[in-house]
Amino acid sequence: MAAAPQPVYWLGNDTLKVSAALFAENRRRLCEGLKAKNGVVLPSVVVLQGGEQTQRYCTDTDLLFRQESFFHWAFGVTEPDCLGAIDVDSGKSILFVPKLPESYATWMGEIFSKEHFKQKYAVDEVQFTCDIADVLSTMKPALLLTLRGLNTDSGSTCREASFQGISNFQVNNSLLHPVIVECRLLKTDMELEVLRYTNRISSEAHKMVMKHVKPGQKEYEMESLFQHYCYSKGGMRHTSYTCICGTGNKCSIIYYGHPGAPNDKTIFDGDMCLFDMGGEYYCYTSDITCSFPANGKFTADQRDIYEAVLKSSRTVMAAIKPGVKWTNMHRLADRVHLEELVKVCILRGSVEDMLKVHLGSVFMPHGLGHLLGIDVHDVGGYPEGVDRINEPGLCNLLMGRPVQERMVLTVEPGIYFIDYLLDQALANPVQSRFINNHVLARFRGFGGVRIEENITVTASGIEVLTCVPRTVEEIEDFMADGKPFSPVVSQE
Ligand code: GLY
Ligand code: MN
Ligand code: MN
Repeated sequence: MAAAPQPVYWLGNDTLKVSAALFAENRRRLCEGLKAKNGVVLPSVVVLQGGEQTQRYCTDTDLLFRQESFFHWAFGVTEPDCLGAIDVDSGKSILFVPKLPESYATWMGEIFSKEHFKQKYAVDEVQFTCDIADVLSTMKPALLLTLRGLNTDSGSTCREASFQGISNFQVNNSLLHPVIVECRLLKTDMELEVLRYTNRISSEAHKMVMKHVKPGQKEYEMESLFQHYCYSKGGMRHTSYTCICGTGNKCSIIYYGHPGAPNDKTIFDGDMCLFDMGGEYYCYTSDITCSFPANGKFTADQRDIYEAVLKSSRTVMAAIKPGVKWTNMHRLADRVHLEELVKVCILRGSVEDMLKVHLGSVFMPHGLGHLLGIDVHDVGGYPEGVDRINEPGLCNLLMGRPVQERMVLTVEPGIYFIDYLLDQALANPVQSRFINNHVLARFRGFGGVRIEENITVTASGIEVLTCVPRTVEEIEDFMADGKPFSPVVSQE
């Protein structure tokens, strides 16, 4: 008998269909990993808590809900206030949904049955969250495995599942986290399909913005255009992070766009743009940066800095394959930047000696790139036993482990002229001896350039997921050609 067709997540039109099989496969991999883990005695049951619907401060205004990432990875459920259980031995999945009050039908719409959710998410069973203790006790688990562990990017600890009656069970909150993180680290074919889609739509959105940018406009107009494209064409209600739409000197602010600097500058003729924006579909992210001149034509200085960054991007991407150390890729980018900055006479002297005093981090204080998946800075960068390298620049690298096939990563070298860091370097004799201050002075106010690609690691190298104009010629041709933006016809 043929297997029942799997339900799909789909927002119609040309948006991507994502099969519930993606999450069944994730759960299967998780159970396999747990069975191989010392300390997991059977029968054990994983209990994950989904995200909660929250309100604006003390008001009754709902914040736009986005699912908790581990829960999404395991169940693909879009509703808030759920829990999920997985029997490690059999793989049986139980989704717990809230029993909604009758008033929900008046204010929020239809109250769906348990059967509705069973069909929608292709889980083995659906129960109400209020019955979780009773349902789990019928499974007679030796252990409940809850999720507690450190997010090595934020320093925060994830909140483990809890429910009334949990104290009647034997609970272990440390075994699950390292196993599920390792599962999320390597992407399945089905996950890669979604990440290809988020990259395709976000690349098209960046190109649309490049076609529309003109001196005199506000940065937030570009943010708005990007979001409109991602949502209207790609079904992306969320972006993966706050859009960074820096122009001119604002390009040097790594996390520009925050409430204190909310993409509100007017774009001027002669400005560089640094637009770092990524759309998110069904909680899978993207993270793309395009840097280009606002007026469509590079000046000589803009070309020099842009091509220096492009060279490091291309050099690093040519070197990435399974087994290489990510920390060495970061070092390689620093080396190329310093060599290129010598060629443009901002620096002078031996690049080897510059590396010894960490001069690269003056121009690129952030890390080369990071894991990407359901979180834009995805989990798994520093598992137990892998420590951060305590050196300027490298200490900000979000992943410290060797590259593996099926990792999805960003490659995002940049050169920035950040007054604070330049002044520090000039005041530090071991660094200032390499700096031609009279040439550097010309670049004060330039801002910066970042080129950010999303890649997946293959058996022998990489697949680049991002597709936007990258060379100076490609950018100038694309921005000059009078044709309106037309996206590639959808493959899905
Ligand atoms: N957009 C955030 C980052 O590039 O990591
Ligand atoms: Mn980015
Ligand atoms: Mn990034």
